[in-house]
Amino acid sequence: MLDKKRIAPRVGIVLGATVLFTYLLMVMGTFVTSTGSGLACPDWPLCYGTVVPPLELAIWFEWSHRLLGGITSSLILVSTFVVWRYYKGLPRVFTSLMLSLLVVGVLLGGITVLIEAPLLSTFAHVAIISSHLIIATLVLICLLFTLRYVLLSKGKAKGTVTGAKGTRGYFRLLFGAVYLQVVLGIVVRYSGATLACPDVPLCGGKIIPDFSSYMVALHFTHRVSAVLILILAAALLYRAVKEGSGARSFAIALTLILFQATFGILIVVTQMFLPVIILHAATGFMLLGFLAYQSVPEFFRLKLNGEQERSVETS
Ligand code: HEM
Repeated sequence: MLDKKRIAPRVGIVLGATVLFTYLLMVMGTFVTSTGSGLACPDWPLCYGTVVPPLELAIWFEWSHRLLGGITSSLILVSTFVVWRYYKGLPRVFTSLMLSLLVVGVLLGGITVLIEAPLLSTFAHVAIISSHLIIATLVLICLLFTLRYVLLSKGKAKGTVTGAKGTRGYFRLLFGAVYLQVVLGIVVRYSGATLACPDVPLCGGKIIPDFSSYMVALHFTHRVSAVLILILAAALLYRAVKEGSGARSFAIALTLILFQATFGILIVVTQMFLPVIILHAATGFMLLGFLAYQSVPEFFRLKLNGEQERSVETS
């Protein structure tokens, strides 16, 4: 007979490791593309027709990224297997979705390499390389949804909704806003709009720029939306403190957003200093993951601290 109390933490460890590897893979992807090593291996899935490519720094960055991708994909397969083995209901839905996304993501990754540099400036290429990372964010979200759900099913996750009023869907709201902002950031990056507004806080010396190109519009929208997200997070923290519910988690979210905005400003001020670019991406993905994890009880109407409004189905 299955001892569910013992299984949940073990499945949690497998899922937790997969979350960590997926996150590292995403940050490393930023590093690889920022150092211009993204197309260092001209072929795929091999690199220069071999498993062990020539000893050159850019090639090894790209090759290590692929290796990490292979390990992460294997972990995703193992996670899906153990979840399907021990759980039914939503965890199965999340992991199936994740697996489908992984297949699409791997194919897109391959296509990105195979279509190579001549198409780099075309809209199709921007769409493909952006969607590769956008898919990675969706995989991360599916993993965190599954992890939280599995841990909650055995009352292992620590509660943040403690007051009678709860957080009323505010994490969900912030998560949605940050997700759109992350997608926008990814498009800013891959459309080459990183310095479309070359100054900060103004854009091209103006409060409202001329919108001379779609890149200026993308970059400017990313900034305005960062300000709106900051205001929203501060207001939600204020409310949470007043209502005595979820204040700690909103404080963490606001802190991450403040760091994120600072790194974003520094990208422009330093004219794309590599460590700042990496920090902006790493904090952005962390913020997204944190909010995805926090919003699970709101999305699926689960009460924390062991109690469940709707039963969490486990086999
Ligand atoms: C809530 C706040 C913010 C979030 C969640 C966010 C998120 C992101 C993400 C996920 C990316 C893609 C990173 C990558 O793939 O490497 C990005 C790119 C970018 N963001 Fe933000 N961002 C925020 C605020 C800002 C601010 C305030 C600025 C500037 C004033 C800014 C400027 C940029 C720039 C220039 C890029 C392109 C970076 C590159 O080309 O590598 N961001 N953002």
